Amino acid sequence: MNDNTICIGILTVSDRASSGEYEDKGGPAIHDWLTQAVKGHWETVARVIPDDEVLIEATLRELSDREGCCLIVTTGGTGPSPRDVTPEATENVCSKMLPGFGELMRSASLASVPTAILSRQTAGIRGQSLIINLPGKPAAIAECLQAVFPAVPYCIDLIGGAYIETHPDFCAAFRPAGARRGGN
Ligand code: MTE
Repeated sequence: MNDNTICIGILTVSDRASSGEYEDKGGPAIHDWLTQAVKGHWETVARVIPDDEVLIEATLRELSDREGCCLIVTTGGTGPSPRDVTPEATENVCSKMLPGFGELMRSASLASVPTAILSRQTAGIRGQSLIINLPGKPAAIAECLQAVFPAVPYCIDLIGGAYIETHPDFCAAFRPAGARRGGN
């Protein structure tokens, strides 16, 4: 059982941001969104790495197994171009996939951009970590997190991760009636 230290991994996957060609805007946008959504004390571990499948897998393992992140949010590398391999790396390190996350995020994004269907973003479980992929565009981050985050705290309960509470005016977490702290 965990001690309820909430550690959240933020992983930016981008050849150009990792080489310094441009500033990483996705990682800070995830952090800003979480600051508005997640109550109480929580910590983040942030990484910026290139679109390299082996390195993405190693970093996801590190954030999950060594850093103990109950939630890992990635940004970038979800599209159709040859270097986009974040969903493959995610699937390779997860024991279970949660396709509903990708379906809902694409559907929510489609309201603002027709190219939303180009993202292969997904989510899955590794140990006591929920891994969620977001597209690389900073504008996509709030749209996607706003759509799926209500289900995130209960999902993390179910895998024995930390107990996350949210600011209900910004993002109301949903737990089924009768759900007990620590999962059921
Ligand atoms: N979703 C939202 N909400 N907003 C966006 O601007 N861009 C799309 C899509 N999903 C976008 C979006 C585009 S243009 C692409 S190519 C894919 O995400 C994949 O982006 P990625 O390779 O940066 O992850």
